[in-house]
Amino acid sequence: SPIPAPDLAKCTRGTNLNLRQPLDVDCCPPFSENAVDYKLPAATEIRVRPAAHLADKDFIAKYEKATELMKALPADDPRNFMQQANVHCAYCNLTYDQGGADPSNKLQIHFSWLFFPWHRWYLYFYERILAKLIDDPTFALPYWNWDNPKGMAMPSMFVKENSSLFNPRRNQAHLPLVNLPPLADLRFSKKSSTAPDKIVPSNLTEMYSEMVRSAVNLEDFYGAKYDLGAKPDPGAGTVERGSHTAIHAWVGDPNSPAGEDMGNFYSTGRDPLFFCHHANVDRMWSVWRDLRGSKPKEFSDPDWLDTSFLFYDENAQLVRVKVRDTVENLKMGYTFQKVEIPWLNKRP
Ligand code: C2O
Repeated sequence: SPIPAPDLAKCTRGTNLNLRQPLDVDCCPPFSENAVDYKLPAATEIRVRPAAHLADKDFIAKYEKATELMKALPADDPRNFMQQANVHCAYCNLTYDQGGADPSNKLQIHFSWLFFPWHRWYLYFYERILAKLIDDPTFALPYWNWDNPKGMAMPSMFVKENSSLFNPRRNQAHLPLVNLPPLADLRFSKKSSTAPDKIVPSNLTEMYSEMVRSAVNLEDFYGAKYDLGAKPDPGAGTVERGSHTAIHAWVGDPNSPAGEDMGNFYSTGRDPLFFCHHANVDRMWSVWRDLRGSKPKEFSDPDWLDTSFLFYDENAQLVRVKVRDTVENLKMGYTFQKVEIPWLNKRP
């Protein structure tokens, strides 16, 4: 059966998965008893998420302002920036009971078929909170277009000191501070084994493989089934395991204790760049569905469709959401700025 929404009262101190040690921070959310079932609001106006490298000054100013306001909310407001960062930690670092009979079996939404839908909900509320703070219902998160050569460098709006989008805990060798900024290596793990002049072709081949050649069956792309009673980490899909993880590792600071911020589950949401990275992961889900033609685009298994999670919405109301409401981004009220997809013809 499907994994139910977690019991917030049973949130515990989690595990630092890089170090395999108890976490030294508490990332449980503020408690509330009144979770309501979330209904997607009618999508009257569609938000358009821009490619970060194409975003203009006005957009950047709005995004900075919204993030600044989010950081300035009271520390115990569930919409506060650090509380939002902790949402990732709570769902990934084994803090919640998974819901099955064994209370020692903790929830971890990564490396499974929950990867795409859970992150979609996470970004959805994060975006709506930002939009509400600047009172702009059209506000949409930018996406880091790392699957396109023009967008492969770290987006420059995130590296301006004094900006609310800045974060010092990143790999300093990967910042776009020079004329020819380093391009992210979508096969990066601890270091890059791709020569700088081979990064673009290597990345395009990698994307073709993750999105087409190696993503034939639903579980290839989404990841393996993870239902009530299952142990964490049944198996990641192509994008989660590949480009997605590579970007985390490429951005995280190698001089930090354990990959902070982007390279560690508990801390990754502390970097505003996380949400821009995941907006592109989310876009890959939509692009993949569009490429499917008449083949099935998502699981029909109720164990997937009825999995539920809890989030705080833009009004600080605790809401219960389901995977089934995530499959169509348009029904959730947003889309992505159209750009070229240069890896589509990169069959190796
Ligand atoms: Cu929840 Cu990119 O990780």
